[in-house]
Amino acid sequence: MQIGKTLISERRIRRRVRELGAQITSDYQNRDTVLMGVLNGSVCFMADLMREISLPVEVIFIRLSSYQGTQPGEIKVGSDFGIDLSGKHVLIVEDIVDTGSTMKFIIERVTDLGASTVEICSLLDKPSRRIHPTEIRYAGFQIPDEFVVGYGLDYDGLHRNLRHVAVLEE
Ligand code: IMP
Ligand code: MG
Repeated sequence: MQIGKTLISERRIRRRVRELGAQITSDYQNRDTVLMGVLNGSVCFMADLMREISLPVEVIFIRLSSYQGTQPGEIKVGSDFGIDLSGKHVLIVEDIVDTGSTMKFIIERVTDLGASTVEICSLLDKPSRRIHPTEIRYAGFQIPDEFVVGYGLDYDGLHRNLRHVAVLEE
């Protein structure tokens, strides 16, 4: 497996993240907002997005895992969901929505913890493989059914540190 063609350049990512941050800033005025990043994939996106949001927001991270190589597996919670979210407006920050299983799982738990609203902000949206219908309030880019790496996204733990999003090739 190796890094293939660039799907989304560093420049396009930067521009889009700025737009998303501006939209979120205007939508979340006067709300107790929690940005909830899903580790490890959201690390680059969160770091950039949070600095494009001009509001006081809480930033927290949760850890789950659902992929083995390029194959989806069972979702496991690797970090504590034992936080009180009552009255909070939670914005889940994710690298990519693929089948929608991860988002379904998180939204159910966040709702159980008393959040007033729960919305999704995902850098990438791969709609072709969706199993669970998922409303992505803030989506960076729609991509075709290809396995991608970079800007937080990995293949077997590698390539998260690329500045752009690339297709993984055999
Ligand atoms: P879902 O639960 O099927 O929506 O999968 C979501 C998770 O799978 C994402 O948070 C990613 O970590 C991982 N994933 C899905 N597609 C890709 C990909 O193309 N590259 C890297 N990770 C991916
Ligand atoms: Mg992820």
